[in-house]
Amino acid sequence: MFAALILTSFSAPPLAAGQSKWLGNIIPSSVPSNWDSYWNQATSENGCKWGTVQGGGAASFNWAQCDVAYNHCQQRGIPFKYHAFVWGSQEPGFIGSAGDQKGALTNLIKNAAARYKPDFIDVVNEALHAPSNIRNALGGSGSTGWDWIVTSFELAKSNFGSAKLLINDYGIVNDSGAVQRYLGIINILKGKSLLNGIGIQCHQFNVNTLAAATITANVNSLGATGLPVYPSELDINGNSESDQAQIYQRVFPALWTNTNIKGITLWGYITGQTWKDGTGIVEVGGRERAAMTWLKGYLETTKV
Ligand SMILES: *[C@@H]1O[C@H](CO)[C@@H](O)[C@H](O)[C@H]1NC(C)=O
Repeated sequence: MFAALILTSFSAPPLAAGQSKWLGNIIPSSVPSNWDSYWNQATSENGCKWGTVQGGGAASFNWAQCDVAYNHCQQRGIPFKYHAFVWGSQEPGFIGSAGDQKGALTNLIKNAAARYKPDFIDVVNEALHAPSNIRNALGGSGSTGWDWIVTSFELAKSNFGSAKLLINDYGIVNDSGAVQRYLGIINILKGKSLLNGIGIQCHQFNVNTLAAATITANVNSLGATGLPVYPSELDINGNSESDQAQIYQRVFPALWTNTNIKGITLWGYITGQTWKDGTGIVEVGGRERAAMTWLKGYLETTKV
């Protein structure tokens, strides 16, 4: 009986335990039973998106799914990233016709601040690809060219004293031109002391065919600002299980060992439960695919 108790309460330490960087993952509507054996930072997959929180209208707030991820982080003592306040996708329907759109965003941020103390916040998501539909109400382009982003960060900063404020986008790690456009926004925010870190999504469509040297060059361009860089939505698939593992071996070390990078978040890990087919690295039932077997060994021997 004593042995059984020990076995049932046993959970392996997360993959990046003891390292200077965390390796996190998303939490969907409930926490997968083996989640704690792998990850030590969390982002809610959908739960904190504006469309999820206020899909029921201006007067309603549904924090249920966001709470699941936040509470788990509190319980485990690991960093929580709030994702995301301002994003042109998955915005609630009511803001399209809201009379005071800036007020609606302010209300969202104030309510979130009353409920959570996030370690990190994706304040603006996909500014270059899916700018907010209420950007004109937030100042539009304005004098900086990106006033709506500045306004968003000012709102976040005035309501969240200690959270690290991040910007996040895709199509960056693979594209030096996009890096330069991203830096245009980043330097405005940095000049106003509004930005604490740079998120790069790193989905499979950006990294599967990417050379390690390209990853290094683009991350270093962002890191030259002096701001930490956070790969925020990493996922990889391949033509086969071994192909996926090969790609992991090319991409992951280029990110993990880069000193500009201070933490990495994967976007799902359980086969069949990720937004892009084939990006799972653990099967339902627990079998670890070759990519996970490699990743575990890599993190045991590569300490950063
Ligand atoms: C980078 O990926 C994006 C898609 O996320 C694509 O539109 C863009 O053309 C790619 N850039 C390069 C240089 O491959």
